[in-house]
Amino acid sequence: MNTSSQVRVENTSGVLTITLARPNKKNALTAQMYQALVEALEMASAEPSVQAVLLDADGEDFCAGNDIGDFVSLARSAQAIEDSDVFRFLRALAMFDKPLVAAVRGRAVGIGTTMLLHCDLVYVAEDARLSTPFVDLAVVPEAASSLLLPARIGHVRAFALFALGETLDGAAAVQCGLANAALPAQQVTARARASALTLDGKPAQALQATKKLMREPQRMLTTIAAEGKVFAERLRSAEAQARFQAFMTRRGQ
Ligand code: COA
Repeated sequence: MNTSSQVRVENTSGVLTITLARPNKKNALTAQMYQALVEALEMASAEPSVQAVLLDADGEDFCAGNDIGDFVSLARSAQAIEDSDVFRFLRALAMFDKPLVAAVRGRAVGIGTTMLLHCDLVYVAEDARLSTPFVDLAVVPEAASSLLLPARIGHVRAFALFALGETLDGAAAVQCGLANAALPAQQVTARARASALTLDGKPAQALQATKKLMREPQRMLTTIAAEGKVFAERLRSAEAQARFQAFMTRRGQ
């Protein structure tokens, strides 16, 4: 199974593995990749043999967030942000009904970190670096992270991540409840896979019912929509455009 050259999807032994496969761009996510991710989640939800989904990434870094060039295109387009591929993905993630297990090495920036708030088991490398520097990019939190991150780690730590651009390493992510365990980088995928395979042995209906009881999808959808309105305004602001251009110019793009 392969839904896009930059997102690999494999279904083996009851575990559907979704691998971000754009390592030369630190797995920054494009519209095409979000489409592939939505398709993969829909497939996983519909396929009875899939008991859990493993989210992994090629290369040294999990995900450098949304592709900045795509942010510029989205800002210039007349498309409503709620119709964009990124927001389709966020809604699919919030509504996803089977366990999601993440294996995180290296950097997880922006949505690379906020998507982890929708995962049920998270394994990180000891030297992973999780960050959500939305204010530095002149945008605002997304993926219901304005609700989920303070709820998980407390307001002041969440604000420091959003507004100061602070970074959490693996141990800090575990300490504040964002991850289950911090491991040497080369062990992260194996540990996450082992947990996903363990879930495959569990009673399927009880597993899904447990996840459902622990989540509040409707509240998350409402938050994602509210964030989306502000995000769209910020995305098109002069200060955000200046930040995007600064990144792209620095990189000679
Ligand atoms: N969008 C588009 N391209 C990105 C990207 C992004 N979010 N993040 C990284 N890349 C690209 C770089 O432009 C570079 O491409 P090039 O080799 O063609 O020049 C390549 O990925 C490698 O990135 P580079 O910046 O050289 O690696 P680094 O190790 O020096 O820094 C990061 C890694 C993640 C710290 C840095 O790339 C970064 O800050 N990225 C932007 C993160 C961000 O703000 N995301 C949005 C959050 S809302």
